[in-house]
Amino acid sequence: MSDKTFYITTPIYYPSGKFHIGTAYTTVLADTIKKYKKLRGYDSRLLTGLDEHGQKIEEVAKKQGKTPQEYVDEMADYAKKIWKTMEIDYDDFIRTTEERHTKIVEEIFDRLMNNGDIYKGEYEGWYCTPCETFFTETQLVDGKCPDCGRDVHKMKEEAYFFNMKKYTDSLIKFYEENPHFIEPESRRNELFNNFIKPGLEDLCVTRTSFDWGVKVRKDPKHVVYVWLDALVNYITALGYLSDNDTLFKKYWPANLQIVGKDIIRFHGIYWPIFLMALDLPLPEKIYAHGFIMMKDGKMSKSKGNVVYPDMLINRYGLDATRYFLLREFAFGQDAVFSPEGFVERFNFDLCNDLGNLLNRTIGMVNKYFGGTIPKYNGCVNEADSKLEKETIDYIKKYEEYMDNYHINSALEEAWKAISITNKYIDETMPWALAKDEKRDELISVMYHLVENLRKFAIMLKPAIEDTSNKILKQLGIENDELISYNSIYKYDILQENTKVIEKGEPLFVRLDANVEIEYIRNEMKKTGV
Ligand code: MSP
Repeated sequence: MSDKTFYITTPIYYPSGKFHIGTAYTTVLADTIKKYKKLRGYDSRLLTGLDEHGQKIEEVAKKQGKTPQEYVDEMADYAKKIWKTMEIDYDDFIRTTEERHTKIVEEIFDRLMNNGDIYKGEYEGWYCTPCETFFTETQLVDGKCPDCGRDVHKMKEEAYFFNMKKYTDSLIKFYEENPHFIEPESRRNELFNNFIKPGLEDLCVTRTSFDWGVKVRKDPKHVVYVWLDALVNYITALGYLSDNDTLFKKYWPANLQIVGKDIIRFHGIYWPIFLMALDLPLPEKIYAHGFIMMKDGKMSKSKGNVVYPDMLINRYGLDATRYFLLREFAFGQDAVFSPEGFVERFNFDLCNDLGNLLNRTIGMVNKYFGGTIPKYNGCVNEADSKLEKETIDYIKKYEEYMDNYHINSALEEAWKAISITNKYIDETMPWALAKDEKRDELISVMYHLVENLRKFAIMLKPAIEDTSNKILKQLGIENDELISYNSIYKYDILQENTKVIEKGEPLFVRLDANVEIEYIRNEMKKTGV
């Protein structure tokens, strides 16, 4: 295996209900980046999991008449099942109730106490139960939680605090020396200027108001604050402080940690400081993506506008769902889900542009060459050399975007290349070449079409692997070298006598827009409570 490692993480999700497409987006994004890195020869590792402690989980379980453990066990099965359906290639699934995690959280807490980073005091503040967060009076917005807008209540308790102030200067220095630590830049600036530079407050890191969590060893009426418990999952999963820390030595620090914009504060401030306190290196990059919004605002059951990934997958297939999620989000920004937008992407991008290109190509190779891909005869016409040059330019751009984790822009470049390939057919008119018996020209056009489709299959592999495999299978391309990224820039490499399939199944079958828009709308309504 390669000695170039790449460690990528998703947040660990609260198992407080079914996952909607927002959660699915984070995971698909991380999975796509992991697969891309693997394709590029990295020994890449993806971690995901569940954040199973806290008051909210305790309450949800109680409502369902279950113990918290029973409830989270069921949810862990559910989560693993949905990620399997979505072909998420995670290497480890961490649950914060697992002993491999809780034992180390206890140990970390003790260490931080012994180092003087954590001290005992008294806390008084406004607590938001759904967000599991305390706020000061000034942080409230119109007397409500600044994050979710719900009611907060006043609470006072004996608590342990983490001495954040001690690390403010080191964090400022780190941000200045690593300007790309947080992306996008706008989020980095927001954190740096509005939260870090003005100075940090010490953070309350225990609770006594509920029971469902990791207990402080020497003072067990205190439960470790869920965020301290949760954040360290990224290292406990690698065996940090355990008997076997081989993975930790190999993969830490993480190369990329993906989070939603709502939790960037925890990952951009507390997390690096916890790591500094433990004397550990900081991750290379934390990337905050935007939110999937609905036309009428946030997804919520009360509005009856939630979209679940399984609904889309069952009806439109996994790749259409993955493609939509990856394509619709501009780097770090919010995206709006609409049934119209989904159907449009399906019909235009997947059916028309990609599906038809494959279909037409296979049809013509069968018609003009009895199904055998002709041998490369260079560029016969200007159209051929133009296609080669432009395609290579798009691949370069694709690669640059993928390397910077701008997945939607990378896919956009892939689709530009697909689009010029479709135009190439219209311009070169192979049917006319066949009629006029311009054999050399016809060979060149057919070869270039197949070759470009091979390149697209490689480019799309991390995002929509099934589709990529189907393309290669229909083209009869099986050789490992031909499906490896190393061969993506080469033209003259298809083997002689490669045979395409006689009659290819369409990759995507065109949707009746009105029917499907109505279908999705109805499914969304069903989610209302
Ligand atoms: N448990 C914490 C994370 C701890 S990580 C050490 C948590 N869980 S969560 O389940 O509430 O959210 C998980 C992720 O889903 C977050 O990154 C959040 O931003 C993301 N999303 C939740 N709703 C979303 C959308 N509507 N759109 C996109 N992502 C969204 O926070």
